[in-house]
Amino acid sequence: MEIKARIGILGSGKGSNMFALAEACHQGVIRAEIAQVVSDVENAGILDRAKDFDIPATYLSPGAFRTKLDEDAELNYIRLFREAKVDWIVLAGFMRILKGDFLKAFPNRVINIHPSLLPSFPGLEAWKQALEYGVKYTGCTVHFVDQGIDTGAIILQETVPVMDDDTPQRLHARIQDAEHHLYPAAVGLAVEGRLEVRGRLCSKAAI
Ligand code: GAR
Repeated sequence: MEIKARIGILGSGKGSNMFALAEACHQGVIRAEIAQVVSDVENAGILDRAKDFDIPATYLSPGAFRTKLDEDAELNYIRLFREAKVDWIVLAGFMRILKGDFLKAFPNRVINIHPSLLPSFPGLEAWKQALEYGVKYTGCTVHFVDQGIDTGAIILQETVPVMDDDTPQRLHARIQDAEHHLYPAAVGLAVEGRLEVRGRLCSKAAI
């Protein structure tokens, strides 16, 4: 029997990317199983959507800070993912910065999706930043997570047009449609060991 990679997902929001990943695992498009979902937001939609797939879903307090996990929280997050024996950590709308100890616990194994074409518009509400700047194309980026904010090696990107009459909501929805196939494609490559990373350059490995 094939031994499947085990994925842990971290998210703070409604969980549409987690849903797309769970579907892709379920259909065998990603050869992995989602072993654990964790949220820093007690009533986040991602927890309910995970339960719909019978995936263990847990709220873990983030501690005292607003933008990162405090020290105790970070240890709790690491412990839970280690207990779940995950090989990969996939961030799906996780709105806190992960610091050194977490990244050291899962070296080169933490992946994020960001709703812009990085390095443009890192940080919060990237679709709003794109709209306010007036770019005609934006998109989404899947990348490895490093110590910076949305700075790690880029795995895949997809462009999305910006329309003249876009609202932030409409633009974000169009970006999310792209995210829902880009993320499974990128996570699929990662769990099959088909990514080659050299410094900040990441390419598809020849097989
Ligand atoms: C996604 O659009 C993702 O790109 C974004 O949050 C949304 C989560 O939606 N992430 C970031 O902005 C990270 N800086 P979801 O909960 O429906 O997957």
